[in-house]
This record gives sequence, C-alpha cells and structure tokens, in this order.
Amino acid sequence: MNLQTTARKLGIEDAADVFREDWDAIQQTLPAGGPPFLQPEQIARDCETVLLPADMAQAVAAAAQRVAANDALSALAWYCHCRLFGERPVRPEFKSWPLPTHALDRDAGLFYVLVLLSGIPSMQRIHREREIPADVIRDTVADLKRCLETEDYFLRTGHWGISQNIFGWLMHSWRGDLYHLGRLQFKHGPFTGRLRAFRHRRARAVLALAEDGVAFRADGQMDVAGQEGAPDGWTSTLEISDTAIAGFPIDPRGFAVHRRLRLPASEWEPALLPNDRILEIHIPAGPPPMDYDACGESLRRALAFFPKYFPDRPFKAFVCSSWILDPQFEALLKPESNLVRFQKEVYLYPLRGGGTTMIWQVFGLRVKDIRSAPRKTSMQRALAEHVEKGGRFRSGGCFLFPADFNWGAQVYRTDAVRQACAGEGGAV
Ligand SMILES: CC(C)(COP(=O)(O)OP(=O)(O)OC[C@H]1O[C@@H](n2cnc3c(N)ncnc32)[C@H](O)[C@@H]1OP(=O)(O)O)[C@@H](O)C(=O)NCCC(=O)NCCS
Repeated sequence: MNLQTTARKLGIEDAADVFREDWDAIQQTLPAGGPPFLQPEQIARDCETVLLPADMAQAVAAAAQRVAANDALSALAWYCHCRLFGERPVRPEFKSWPLPTHALDRDAGLFYVLVLLSGIPSMQRIHREREIPADVIRDTVADLKRCLETEDYFLRTGHWGISQNIFGWLMHSWRGDLYHLGRLQFKHGPFTGRLRAFRHRRARAVLALAEDGVAFRADGQMDVAGQEGAPDGWTSTLEISDTAIAGFPIDPRGFAVHRRLRLPASEWEPALLPNDRILEIHIPAGPPPMDYDACGESLRRALAFFPKYFPDRPFKAFVCSSWILDPQFEALLKPESNLVRFQKEVYLYPLRGGGTTMIWQVFGLRVKDIRSAPRKTSMQRALAEHVEKGGRFRSGGCFLFPADFNWGAQVYRTDAVRQACAGEGGAV
C-alpha cells in the first residue's frame, strides 16, 4: 500500500511526510501474511520477555490483532519496525511520529508498544554482544510496564499506552544505550551544559565557569520564559589562554556568580567541556522514593558496570538535568528530603526554563490553577505556597565526577570551592 493511501486510511495525512523515506522499498519487503511480529504466539512470548503482567499482555495482544487485521496499520507497523530495527536503523524525531488514534482509538497508545516488541531480537543481540547481566536486563526492560501505567498517555487517557515521547525514551533501552541499575537509570550522552569545569592540579578541587555569552539574571539563574532580558541581568565571558582561564564561576549550590575570576592555567586543568562524553542520570517515577542511600548505591553500581561492559565508551562525569534540581528546593523542603540530600552531593548548575515540568510532576497533568492543586505532601504544600507568593520554578543541572564520588561527604560544598567562587581562589 502506498503512503498516501495508508495515511488517508489512518487519518494521519498531515504527519505522513515523516514516513516518506524508503516507504515504497520497505513495503515491498512486507511478508504476505503480514508482519510476523504481530502473530499471537510471538506477542505472548515478547510480553513475557519484557515482563508485562497477564492483563497488560492481553491488552497488547488484542491491539496486535487489530493492527494485523488492518492493512494500513500493518503497513505502518512494518515500516516503523524496518526503519528502527532494520539494517540501517535511523534515529528519528519521535515526537513528529503520529499516534494512529483515528484507527485505534483507546489502543492507539499500544501501537508503538508493538513496534518496540518487534525490536526485542535486536535489543537482545546488543545485550548478548556486551554480555549484560540478566538482572540488569530485567530491570531495564521493566521500564516498559512502568511507562504503560504511569506516564503521560496513561495520565491523559486512563488507558495503558505510551506517547511518541515515551516511545523515543524507551528506544534508548532498546538500542542498548540506557540501563537501570538499582534506583537510577543511566544513559550515555554528550555534555550539553553551558559551562566548563576545571580541576585544581594539586588540591583536586573542582570549579565550574560559565561558558562565554550566557545570559544570567541578577540572582545567577538563567532567564526563564516570561522573564527574559531582566534589566539587572548580565552576560558571562570566558577567555582561555596558555597562561590563564578567566570567567565567571558557578557556585556548586546552583547559581552563577557575577564576579570575574582568573585562574592560572598552570594550576587548573580542564575536567568537563562541552560535548564531552558523560553518563546521564535519570530518576524513574516512584514509588519507591529516590531513597538517598539507594541513589548512592546506584551510582556505585554504575561506576563498576559501565567501565566493565562499555570499556569503549569512557565517560567524564555523571550529569543530570531535571526539575528536581531546582536549587530553591533546599530552602523550601525539609532537610531530610531525598531530593535535597541528593542536591547536596552533586555540583548544581543553572539551566534555562523548565518551570512547567515541576507543576505537572508535582500536581498532576490536569492542574490548571495552583489554588485548586492537591496539597497532600509537604512538597505540594511548600511549592504551592511558593507559587502563590509569586515564586517561579526552573530546571537545574548537576554533575558529579567519578573521582569525587563519596556519597555523604558533600564534596562540592567545601569552604575552599566557595571561597574560590567568591574570588578568594588562593585558598583552593
Ligand atoms: C523523584 C521522586 C521519586 C522523589 O520522591 P521522594 O524520594 O519522595 O522525594 P523527597 O524525599 O524529596 O520528598 C519530600 C516530600 O515530597 C513528596 N514528593 C516527592 N515527590 C513528589 C511529587 N512528584 N509530587 C508530590 N509530592 C512529592 C514526598 O512524598 C515527601 O512528602 P512528605 O514530606 O509529605 O512525606 C518523585 O518526585 C517522583 O517519583 N517523581 C517522578 C519522576 C521524576 O520526576 N524524575 C525526575 C526526572 S529525571
């Protein structure tokens, strides 16, 4: 079936262009009996492999039957499978891949689950080649169940399923790039923070300087939507020569300092630069909470796991970008909050934007007005009060170097680093 007809039948004409490349060639390879991965026995085996419970497996099997019985849906499923798991796998912008809602109504969120299941052999091949331990694979693929029953498609519709964004997210696991180790997940990636970190050659202290040309507000945060161009804002500079590194420090508590520092190049070496390879930290939604000790244990496991199974992919630091790293939380939440304790163990830095994520993560997708938001937890109460007083939230970033890993020691909160940020660099 050609793309135009398929798109018309599925009611996705507006978005069909994303499937244009190689459509006809791929359709010529579609087996006469339809995509084999949609057959009931295969679906049952796949659901077992990715640990879906019986009721979810039944729902997935029913969706597979509907797709198998519909030529246009089968053509699309085959195309997605071949593009993602074929000989020349692509890395598309998943958010532009439409959900076939018109054809599948409430089962639309299961369409890309079927595509994921079709990629199990390709994922298993990667795991086999890397000799990834079975317990890590189990924990990693179990993310599918969690996503089906907690993420945005479920929250919006009340039905098991995944949105295109979550499909893209799960593809990281399916490509063998993301692993679940205890409470946290880890994924290889490039460093995209707008800073460079340097390490003192003798004292080993770490200090981050803002990249050249970053716009900050007076409080050292980056602009957030609606607050751009604050009158008291300032822009960082960073000059690196053979003899000196001159720029504006980032305080490890998560804000830039409007005081230019000059570090002797003979004493400071680069530790983290833009595009350096890092390990992203992701925190899957609870329950359970992000228990402080469990997070430390996950990081410890990652330090052993990645050099052993990915010796060809060294990384410079752990990095996380999230609403949970807003540095204001330290003043707003109880000191025993897991989130606050996590923040104190890492080097926080400002990120641009992100306030709306906090609202839906803490109060739910449906909350439009903070006055009517639920206030069951101490976080909901504290954050709602903050917003009512005119406060805003933003995302934050953090890094942690393997060499500095000493969970509980709050290594970046030392007086020496603070003094360096304050311009008293001789103390480091
Ligand atoms: C990240 C997460 C596990 C942290 O939960 P936690 O370990 O309980 O965090 P804290 O110990 O700091 O919680 C302090 C308080 O805030 C509450 N709280 C934490 N996260 C909350 C949330 N998302 N919404 C509402 N309340 C929350 C806790 O229940 C606790 O309340 P209490 O004092 O009344 O008992 C949790 O927020 C979550 O599941 N978020 C969704 C996933 C996510 O956002 N991950 C980060 C993206 S990378």
